[in-house]
Amino acid sequence: KRPAGAPDKALAKPVTKVGVIGAGLMASQFALLFVRRLRVPVVITDLDQARVDKGLAYIRDEIAALESKGRISPDEANRLRALVSGTTDKADFADCDWVIEAVFEELGIKQDVFAEIEKHISPEAVLATNTSSLSVEKIGAKLEHPERLVGFHFFNPVAVMPLIEVVNTPATNDETLSTAMVVAGKLKKTAVITRDTPGFVVNRVLAKVLGETMHAVDEGTPFEVVDDAVKPFGLPMGPFELLELVGLKVGAHVLDTHHAAFPDRFFESKNLHALAEHGRILDRDGKGRITGFDKGALKIV
Ligand code: 3HC
Repeated sequence: KRPAGAPDKALAKPVTKVGVIGAGLMASQFALLFVRRLRVPVVITDLDQARVDKGLAYIRDEIAALESKGRISPDEANRLRALVSGTTDKADFADCDWVIEAVFEELGIKQDVFAEIEKHISPEAVLATNTSSLSVEKIGAKLEHPERLVGFHFFNPVAVMPLIEVVNTPATNDETLSTAMVVAGKLKKTAVITRDTPGFVVNRVLAKVLGETMHAVDEGTPFEVVDDAVKPFGLPMGPFELLELVGLKVGAHVLDTHHAAFPDRFFESKNLHALAEHGRILDRDGKGRITGFDKGALKIV
């Protein structure tokens, strides 16, 4: 059955080489998924060689882990390793026909990243953004061909979470949308097509949960109490455990975006920003454990 709103698969463009802009944890996770499932060359880039090397090291470690668990054969591991490369030279993206970015969640940065990469890629290449809650249409504002841009929103951990939100902007054309749906299928993910609204669908819900539970913490209830109270509703993780998984800065950004778009429906939390600066909430070793806030400041015990 064709997913709701999906154009004809026949319109999809072939993907023979993937370019990934950003070599952070999210980008490296899906670079690995692309190489495993599409079995085409994947090139990653970032601001400098050190970041690229870190991303490549993550991918190689994960391939080694898959091999040692017997999930892939040594031959397959070698094939995958040979398909992954890193670069700081955008010219290496010239023959990519699918380029996806996961750089810092700031509109201006994403706009500039796409405007710059468009100078180096083929006119046929499809562009995708993994933004978690920014407007995909605005991200494409500086593109010469915004019709080739689509949202392609993964969830953490990428290898495990089954969903991709494919974000259809008013500018996205059917060829681009169809390519995104076919790529998602090859990645063995369930794809849903969403409107280009703040937080799309899933992060609307996540921001609601995060906002409400953060508000409880702002009022003085310790994180672990909130996690223990909410998790038995059937969640695999407590909301703050999940926040640590996705990254505190990402979580703070998601909440900010929702508050800015719908101030009457979503909280803002200054404490969440303080936390994001601090870097972590729960320490499973019992060290540096934050149990709450003391008069607005973090109280670390
Ligand atoms: N990377 C890769 N694989 C991972 C992983 C990771 N970080 N964490 C767990 N896995 C794999 C394990 O290897 C295991 O695979 P296997 O069964 O093939 O061996 C499988 O996941 C299950 O792992 P575990 O048994 O160790 O642990 P759990 O059963 O507790 O599951 C979990 C871990 C899948 C992370 C589960 O706790 C979960 O689903 N948590 C919720 C995650 C979630 O909601 N993510 C969405 C976040 S929102 C987001 O990303 C959007 C963004 O825009 C903010």
